[in-house]
Amino acid sequence: MDPDDALANLFFSDEGIDDPVPLYRALREAAPVHHSATGAFVLTRFEDCREALRDNRLGKANRASGSLIPNSDPAADELRREQVQRSIDEKRSASMLFLNPPHHTRQRALVSRVFTPRRVEKMRENIKHLSDQIIGDFVAEGGGDLLDKVAFPLPVAVIGQLVGVPEQDWPQFRDLVSQSAAGLEPGATVDDLTLAEESRSEVSAYFVELVKERRANPQDDLLSDLLAVEEAGDSLNEGEVIAVATLLFAAGFETTTNLIGNGMGALLRHPDQKERLWADPSLLASAVDEMLRWDSPIQFDARTALEDAEIAGVKIPKDSTVITLLGAANTDPAQFTNAEAFDITRDEGQPMSFGSGIHYCLGANLSRAEGQEVFSALIGTCTSIELAGDLKRRRRMGFRGYESVPVEIVAR
Ligand code: HEM
Repeated sequence: MDPDDALANLFFSDEGIDDPVPLYRALREAAPVHHSATGAFVLTRFEDCREALRDNRLGKANRASGSLIPNSDPAADELRREQVQRSIDEKRSASMLFLNPPHHTRQRALVSRVFTPRRVEKMRENIKHLSDQIIGDFVAEGGGDLLDKVAFPLPVAVIGQLVGVPEQDWPQFRDLVSQSAAGLEPGATVDDLTLAEESRSEVSAYFVELVKERRANPQDDLLSDLLAVEEAGDSLNEGEVIAVATLLFAAGFETTTNLIGNGMGALLRHPDQKERLWADPSLLASAVDEMLRWDSPIQFDARTALEDAEIAGVKIPKDSTVITLLGAANTDPAQFTNAEAFDITRDEGQPMSFGSGIHYCLGANLSRAEGQEVFSALIGTCTSIELAGDLKRRRRMGFRGYESVPVEIVAR
């Protein structure tokens, strides 16, 4: 297959959404560092993706990731350019995800002082408690849509408690965060982009108010700590706290929802692996890592060449876009044995699903803990869990997930 056809299918067709892996394979075999017709360099090998994400000549260009891939609809492309420009002019992209060193280094260091591994470890008891509660209700009802009843409520409760968003406000974020994320998709339409912008403004306006509230009445939560954090006389300004809180909250559940949904989908499609996990829960940690690898909630990441660079001997001129296909890296046979198979006993190192280098996901341990506790609670409470309808994919390529995961359960 011509690599540019494979790319177009990947980003803009149902084929890519249904199963991107054959397209990743075709691309990797035809041109592992592919200089596409759109001008972007597209990477499919694990080592090349890792190298690119760790290369400080490549960085963030203050552009939404989807805008780095030309859309098939020029009107959508134009609207996205306008939106990104507006967000730059209004300094709305002030969170670490969009920054390069030294600004990134400074902000991440300040945030890391309060969002510590110890804090995540302390959350573990809460995660276990919340998982037991949510799964308990789900099992008592005999199952239903796992995405709706488990995969959304758990991460939103965890990140809600952590950041300090009051419980009555959690439900409204489901659509708002999902709609904002849809705007980052390469295939976003004009309507998707318009809705994404409105949703982003609404989320941001919410945090402006919450920050005011916490400044007046600090609580035992991350938001209050972000407002108070100080290091060597430096602190986060109010705009940064709003941007970071919005980022943590949004990044905290859209992705983890899909980790749980995609993970359950993988088990349902591989009953032998499901039985194996049920028979031996000591495999939980490697099973969750395998879920992340085999069906990554984030399928691609992107960078811009801040100066001339080179990857695997290919010259990348300044200002070029580099797309790292994380899903392709995760199924690279040079990195993983029998790479396209789903094997919960695999022990071959971490997948590329959380990125690499200075922007490596800050919530990796938190979401792994959530995945492990949810499946642990399921194993503890039900003897069988079976598919009870269709597994339908959402029409999203970058944030990969299911529309619903209907299951039937037999309680212990
Ligand atoms: C399965 C769940 C998750 C996946 C697959 C995931 C994936 C990623 C990836 C690929 C990146 C790198 C982005 C880049 O290089 O441009 C990232 C960054 C980030 N993630 Fe996650 N994430 C998940 C869960 C979370 C959670 C639960 C949180 C927060 C509590 C979180 C917070 C962040 C933050 C703050 C960054 C930006 C770090 C930086 O720019 O230095 N993520 N995530």
